[in-house]
Amino acid sequence: MNTPRSMESIVVTPATPGAADARIAADYVRQRVGADFQAPVCGIVLGSGLGGLADRVEGATRIPFSHVPGFPAATVAGHAGQLIIGTLAGRPVALMAGRFHMYEGHDAALAAFPVRVMHALGASVYFASNAAGGVRRTFEPGQLMVIADHMNLMFRNPLIGPLEPGDERFPDMSEPYDRALQTLLHDAGRAVSVTLQVGVYCGLLGPTYETPAEVRMLERLGADAVGMSTVPEVIVARAIGMRVAAVSCITNKAAGLSLQSLNHEEVMQAGKDVAEDFESLVTEFVRRLP
Ligand code: HPA
Repeated sequence: MNTPRSMESIVVTPATPGAADARIAADYVRQRVGADFQAPVCGIVLGSGLGGLADRVEGATRIPFSHVPGFPAATVAGHAGQLIIGTLAGRPVALMAGRFHMYEGHDAALAAFPVRVMHALGASVYFASNAAGGVRRTFEPGQLMVIADHMNLMFRNPLIGPLEPGDERFPDMSEPYDRALQTLLHDAGRAVSVTLQVGVYCGLLGPTYETPAEVRMLERLGADAVGMSTVPEVIVARAIGMRVAAVSCITNKAAGLSLQSLNHEEVMQAGKDVAEDFESLVTEFVRRLP
């Protein structure tokens, strides 16, 4: 019997990749790097405008997202779309220049899939960064905020579905952002003279920015910053037992808190303005990791 035509074009990238897919992706990455591969001490994801850190990676193997099994191609301007394996401050790292967002139409599990891959490569620490709007009224564009906690207003959870082998079914989220790693970030900040704010990150689906009324609501709920990423990644990282640290780059005052309207180009530019501080901070953080 002939294979039906429709069978020939089945796309093999699963919509909700899990632990087994992560092992396949990690095997591919190890093969690409070859004999020099070292298990990363930290998996890092770079947010909008923060991709410059990728240039500080030494001995880098740069793999386009589209080559990694299970990864879709990145679609957002300002996200380079490479998984980079190399060293930062002499320590092996796996670094994502770009990420997958739910507003691109990806399932929460796919948005978080790179975290599974970095874990499968050997990373036990996950460091997330993002561009965010400042909800706390004293926050100014160009400030960096250590994320102390988050609110999931994406109303999706990457763990919904059959339990993945190795996952916790009901992960504890009473300390999603590791206390010791927050201290390490503050120590690193002092060492490189970068001032850090601390606050609660609120994840929304996007892709629209918020209305002023929504920002007032978020303020009342206790959010300090608002963005469109990170939360699914952190949930998966906790479910598989990784320790998490994260930093938001405040790229703008959230809607209604200034007279300006918001656009992606300004968000990108603000990220670039703070890039040097951000890069020194993360490099020093990685240097100090146990
Ligand atoms: N809202 C949501 N996401 C963002 C913002 C914002 O104001 N700035 C950068 N990312």
